[in-house]
Amino acid sequence: MGAPQGGRARDERPLADILFSQGFGTRRECAVRVLSGAVTVGGQVQDDPARPWPVAGLRFSVDGVEWPFHATALVLLHKPAGYECSQRPRHHPSVLSLLPEPLRRRGVQPVGRLDADTTGLLLLTDDGALIHRLTSPKHHEPKVYEVTARHPVDAGQIERLLAGVVLDDDPRPVRAAAAVRTDAHNLSLTLTEGKYHQVKRMLAAVGNRVEALHRSAFGPWTLDATLPPGQWRWLSADQVS
Ligand code: URA
Repeated sequence: MGAPQGGRARDERPLADILFSQGFGTRRECAVRVLSGAVTVGGQVQDDPARPWPVAGLRFSVDGVEWPFHATALVLLHKPAGYECSQRPRHHPSVLSLLPEPLRRRGVQPVGRLDADTTGLLLLTDDGALIHRLTSPKHHEPKVYEVTARHPVDAGQIERLLAGVVLDDDPRPVRAAAAVRTDAHNLSLTLTEGKYHQVKRMLAAVGNRVEALHRSAFGPWTLDATLPPGQWRWLSADQVS
């Protein structure tokens, strides 16, 4: 390959190594896939596992399925009800079962958890530091929940959610960064912490009860109305400041 231009070397890697880094199996399995003609770049079959390719912006296909190269896997899943975020689910399938095998093999994990009956925006990544960054209480990453409540939501409840309520595991009150009643039984709640069952416990603390819960935003990301439940899309980790 030619000399790098402009000083900084382009990140070029052998095709089999690229597949390995993107979750397509062991190094050997990746080399075999390339040798078997299953991999294309730019629409051409590439059967040399050792041939280097620049990874920035690279798109390749494996068995006819196109993949963009991502140094870090960060995806947004529209979580349906009836899936657990746990790695060892007990009562329902894992959210990981909704992702393609290469993402699972890369070791993507949910960023925080949603209850099995909660729907909406779930981030998953293979970058442990990013999970820490997005879930750390220090960073106050806002999360927006659309809540359907069993009883009518009144102004007193909204006031208490904003002022802070004490939950049973911590004497320090937790408060909503925003709480907006959208109709008699619905409110939009913005939280900057991520305590266990936090929304359900906060609603219970003001004398109401969550009937349905949907997360519509997390940090800079919102759930795209065109993404159906059970579907996912790539995100750029660059959006995390
Ligand atoms: N709060 C809850 O109670 N449940 C969730 O799934 C998320 C936030």
